[in-house]
Amino acid sequence: MGITVSAPAKLFLLGEHAVVFDGTCIVTAVNSRLSVSLERSDEALLTINAPDVRLTNYQKPMSAISEQFDKADASSFIRSSVAVFAERCAFDGGLSISTRSEFKREYGIGSSSAVVAATLFGLSQLFGAEFSHEELLHMGFEAIQRVQQLGSGADLAAAIYGGTLYYENRSPRTVVALPVENLPLVVIYSGYKASTVDYVWEVGKLRDRHPEVINPIIEVMLTIVEQGRLAIEEANWQTFGDLMNIQHGLLHALGVDTSSLAHIVLRAREAGAWGAKLSGAGGGDCAIILTDNPHIGTILEDMNDRIAKLDIQPNAEGVRLEI
Ligand code: PMV
Repeated sequence: MGITVSAPAKLFLLGEHAVVFDGTCIVTAVNSRLSVSLERSDEALLTINAPDVRLTNYQKPMSAISEQFDKADASSFIRSSVAVFAERCAFDGGLSISTRSEFKREYGIGSSSAVVAATLFGLSQLFGAEFSHEELLHMGFEAIQRVQQLGSGADLAAAIYGGTLYYENRSPRTVVALPVENLPLVVIYSGYKASTVDYVWEVGKLRDRHPEVINPIIEVMLTIVEQGRLAIEEANWQTFGDLMNIQHGLLHALGVDTSSLAHIVLRAREAGAWGAKLSGAGGGDCAIILTDNPHIGTILEDMNDRIAKLDIQPNAEGVRLEI
């Protein structure tokens, strides 16, 4: 008998990039989910079917699942998750894992973190291991590091815990659930896919070249996260919007803004939004707009054919059992 579990995608509200340098951020889970079905098999093989990333009947002996992790290989995050789990909870035989995503990978809203969170949670359910959210975060962080050697783990925390989180990328990593109701957020795809890993590297290199300039920018971003936490707790959208605008300006200074994202953000502000910014590593993917204007999607989509309003809402549930 197999089981199906799911995990949500996510959006960064504040603190992206700063969180990588032992910092903090605010991240929210969104109601677009990735499901993972898992079944045990007698033969010691890992079989993966993941049509969204063009994996059909991919097979690897269980003894070889840790060979050559590469972020460009769509099987890597599942293999590394299974490997990390098996090191803590050994089992005989093999596994058949299939995934299905409600959101497109190019939106950049967290397919890798959702697949890692759901795979680990699914395995934990399948084998009755009952790992806590904290343990899953620890294991998932390890699985992601094995594939891409970087990342704050904030996206993973959102996929596991759900809701809207204040996240500290320090030892020990801490997650604080923020009380958020009716966060008036509109999500806009900029029309271009970007590689998170490349942009994290570029920002790291910029910091190495100009530490006296970039370190203070990161410090201000962390102050914005602290102020944003208070504003979100008070549902003070004027203040939260101001902080989003300033964070976008600082992300622009780090070189991760694009013309499409900049146009979306400026047009949204002209249309009266409280705040608008890129969300995540930058270079493309999505912008988020804090607004109660019901026409904002149409206003922004009218600018260009590639721009699309996504029908997703923040503050969604974390990992859960489906069947
Ligand atoms: O591009 P996204 O949505 O995966 O966000 C990346 C956020 C960074 O802070 C730049 C990296 C990280 O691991 O937190």
